[in-house]
Amino acid sequence: MIAIHNNNLGFTPRWIQYCESKGIHYKLVNCYDNDTIHQLKDCDALMWHHWQVNSKDIIKAKRLLLALDHAGKVVFPNFKTGWHFDDKVAQKYLLESLNLPLVPTYHFVDRADALEWAKNTDFPKVFKLAKGAGSANVNLVHNRKQAVSLINQAFSSGINVYDRLGVLKERWRKFVKVKDSFFNVIQSCYRIFNIPRYGKLLPKERFEVCFQDFIPDNDFDIRVIVIDEKAFAIKRLVRKNDFRASGSGDIVYEKHHFDEKLIQKSFEFAGSLKAQVVAFDYVFDTDQNPLIVEISYGYAIEVYDQCAGYWDKELNFYEGKFDSCEWMVDSVLKAISEK
Ligand SMILES: Nc1ncnc2c1ncn2[C@@H]1O[C@H](COP(=O)(O)OP(=O)(O)O)[C@@H](O)[C@H]1O
Ligand SMILES: [Mg+2]
Repeated sequence: MIAIHNNNLGFTPRWIQYCESKGIHYKLVNCYDNDTIHQLKDCDALMWHHWQVNSKDIIKAKRLLLALDHAGKVVFPNFKTGWHFDDKVAQKYLLESLNLPLVPTYHFVDRADALEWAKNTDFPKVFKLAKGAGSANVNLVHNRKQAVSLINQAFSSGINVYDRLGVLKERWRKFVKVKDSFFNVIQSCYRIFNIPRYGKLLPKERFEVCFQDFIPDNDFDIRVIVIDEKAFAIKRLVRKNDFRASGSGDIVYEKHHFDEKLIQKSFEFAGSLKAQVVAFDYVFDTDQNPLIVEISYGYAIEVYDQCAGYWDKELNFYEGKFDSCEWMVDSVLKAISEK
């Protein structure tokens, strides 16, 4: 029997629907309870779609899932899939260790080292916090003066993960561009004075900095998601007068946007990572080589409902609608049967 954390969000309702339709035994559990382990006694696996913007998930999800994984229970996401979630610094060291083509990334925990690097490097560079999604906390640094100022801030007061003004600006942009709800704009005005719980929970990022080489002339990024030997992709166009694609809301889906070689490489990279699911965000250098800017296990599932189809490992393309959440359940069932 599979236990599913019942948060009614993202992958969860689809996992439940799939179990119902296939007659797969499942049980809804509340992973926020103190006695979660007891609730799981009669289960072979736990699935929890946890989020980087939910304070309870931030506090408990990795601890619980990794504890169960350590103890030998099948979990989704498991250690190799989830330990580096929403942590770009962890991803740097992981991708470097596996020789995967990460955009050259520089991480310093010593102010003098960071300043020395800034003195000798060229600009622009991209400055990133370890945490953040939808391009929040990803910014262009045009010159050394800006870099030094960011380094000094990071090694003194620190940098807020929840960027109130950034959130307001982004909501306004979405309201004007894609006629997103005005309520969101009003809410983010309120959030200037009373930030959400997860923003209060996350400490400032402090005493470390992370920069990447800026890969120019990318009007889009490409995200390829690999699950259980299947892959699908989207192309996200950058915001107007901006280099950032993630979160822009401007997405194209037609198959001709995606080079099969990139899909094939994504299968290889996913094989090295041994993750149950991995989304690769790619930009491209001047020779059109793909460079990974980040990886993630979680994604906004509705966005992918418009994909034209998916590829298998032999690069056969299956046109039509599919639900990647079903593949997650299938991979959990497979892991249970292999125990
Ligand atoms: N090193 C880089 N060079 C050029 N563009 C980048 C670089 N890193 C990120 N980007 C752009 O910024 C966007 C957000 O960066 P990403 O690291 O994926 O953060 P997030 O977690 O917010 O999605 C990407 O979608 C890509 O368009
Ligand atoms: Mg991204």
